[in-house]
Amino acid sequence: MLSYLHSYHAGNHADIIKHITLSLILKYKKNKDSPLVYIDSHAGRGYYNLNSRESKKTSEYNSGIGKLLSCTDDLDPSINDYLSIVKEINNDLIKANSSNASNSEPRPVETLNTDKTLKLNYYPGSPLIAKKLLRPQDHLIMMELHNNEIRELKSRMDCRNDKRIAIHHRDGFEGLVAVTPPKIKRGVVLIDPSYEMIEDYKKAIESIELVLKKWNDVTIMLWYPHLNNSKDHSLFLREKAKKIEAKEILDVNFCIANSQDKIEGMYGSGLLIFNPTYNLSDQLSDIVNQLQTICKETPNAISSVQNLK
Ligand SMILES: C[S@@+](CC[C@H](N)C(=O)[O-])C[C@H]1O[C@@H](n2cnc3c(N)ncnc32)[C@H](O)[C@@H]1O
Repeated sequence: MLSYLHSYHAGNHADIIKHITLSLILKYKKNKDSPLVYIDSHAGRGYYNLNSRESKKTSEYNSGIGKLLSCTDDLDPSINDYLSIVKEINNDLIKANSSNASNSEPRPVETLNTDKTLKLNYYPGSPLIAKKLLRPQDHLIMMELHNNEIRELKSRMDCRNDKRIAIHHRDGFEGLVAVTPPKIKRGVVLIDPSYEMIEDYKKAIESIELVLKKWNDVTIMLWYPHLNNSKDHSLFLREKAKKIEAKEILDVNFCIANSQDKIEGMYGSGLLIFNPTYNLSDQLSDIVNQLQTICKETPNAISSVQNLK
């Protein structure tokens, strides 16, 4: 039984580094005209209402997107680009959901956020960010296992009208390997598990190994949490990743605190990036430094970008 719901966490510090990096990679890959395929093995529901009961209960968006939106410093151009995408999608959704409310079969009317400092009602997940950035010649394949999340994802991505998008109700680790290698050879994969089950760490590494054997130049991003307790498996992932055959592997870490600090649960997150795009390491070093200055909650927060190969 899956119980994790991303609605409680949307827009938090882990989402912003994940989505800034995803946007950078997709933008770089668009420098060539040839088609691109984007695979999201753990897609979630597409976007999140920041005024929902779940979002309001944790207010986790205040640790990430909320801090960026209220920041008055000059931001790195890539952070600004990401914020423009988030705002654009938010505005599209406000318009779409208010016009749907006047149709004969309206979606539930979602109230606008009353938190004036946030200035955002919806936070886009990886599926909607990718859909916004990709072109008519590109394809998107999304997988999600949770019954409610897949139902929402299907209706929110409008895949009946957008032939670029395929959505699968299936296990993302198994599904990713099954669709590899896809017909379109230039690709980006996001593996973003909820790690509800400890086996997910092992499955993530095993699926990356299998995918790279059949599709050696795909760019893969694996997200993982830094947890302040015995549940942390970041070292396991890094050690296993080093043994995987790939031209280059980056390990990106963005933390709002330190493992010694008394922060409950997740104090940061990491991304293992296999076959990163050109210059990504330098771009992300500047980005994580700035994100850390803006978002850190304790003085000893540590962030880094390391090459594992
Ligand atoms: C962290 S959320 C995804 C967020 C999304 N990638 C984003 O950035 O907006 C993880 C999702 O994986 C789903 N999930 C959990 N186990 C899964 C599995 N084995 N296969 C596919 N989806 C799974 C959960 O239901 C949840 O929606």
